[in-house]
Amino acid sequence: MTSLERPGTAELVERINDLRRKRRAVILAHNYQLPEVQDIADFVGDSLAMAREATRVQADLILLCGVHFMAETAKLLNPDRPVLVPDPNAGCPMANMVDPRELAEAKRRHPDAVVVTYVNSSAAVKAMSDLCCTSANAVPVVRSIPRERPILFVPDQSLGEYVAQVTGRDNFILWPGFCPTHHRILAEHIEARRREHPGADVCVHPECTRDVRALADFIGSTGQILLHVRESRKKTFIIATELGICHGLQKQNPGKTIVPVTRLADCPNMKLNTLEKVLWSLEDLRYEVTVPADVAGPARRAIERMLAVS
Ligand code: 13P
Ligand code: SF4
Repeated sequence: MTSLERPGTAELVERINDLRRKRRAVILAHNYQLPEVQDIADFVGDSLAMAREATRVQADLILLCGVHFMAETAKLLNPDRPVLVPDPNAGCPMANMVDPRELAEAKRRHPDAVVVTYVNSSAAVKAMSDLCCTSANAVPVVRSIPRERPILFVPDQSLGEYVAQVTGRDNFILWPGFCPTHHRILAEHIEARRREHPGADVCVHPECTRDVRALADFIGSTGQILLHVRESRKKTFIIATELGICHGLQKQNPGKTIVPVTRLADCPNMKLNTLEKVLWSLEDLRYEVTVPADVAGPARRAIERMLAVS
């Protein structure tokens, strides 16, 4: 008689470990992934760290646990290796807020502008861009551009506004894109957590709105927030970004108190990648991510210009 029971976590992990050895696969995961997915990954990081890691992979196969644009970036930077994702529906809504037709129109309206595109975008949009950036390096990327050149910043308005503020530039043309998850975080959530934890350090992702950023003690990418909390002498941290990061923060800082600013900051796309799907992906070698050759060349150049600057 066969059992209809679903395998438990320990069995799933064992089967994943067997298969990843057999397939010579490496698993890259983003800081927002489910705790159990982060725990089995060979590498966990922010968008920039994942992109850099993708350039170094020697394994036969990359299994990327994140959202679609991250897998496309890994494919662009390591074109000879298959890149798989556990769930092809794990996309980033912000990346879908700009398409090539709209960007072509904006470029016609602003012919002098340098197009700086956040990595949270499709490969087709990157291919039409001068440079990419992530939330970890957007400031140095923009500083590498002569001050007098206008910047068409695509698609995250909040990040663009933040970078304009830090660099003191007033020649930004901001795309009206946003992250639905980060925009659920409100200033009143921070104020409420601060009342409960007086003296706590408030860490904010730059995708948050201006009101929320104004209350921050520290602003950075997910990787930079992890580093900041590790190095800080403070004991309590209010975390204003997607909830998944709290797992890594608590794991790396067992003696510190990590307070998620609100349970609403949950990215449903990031959470589509479960351990079962990781296993099925390795079993069936699915779902492979590809980028058309005419898009891959120019998209790769925009990412490589970013990596050269930061
Ligand atoms: P990081 O590059 O800071 O990890 O951010 C990626 C992202 O999707 C934020 O919502
Ligand atoms: Fe996209 Fe926001 Fe999810 Fe990041 S948290 S993947 S920006 S929807």
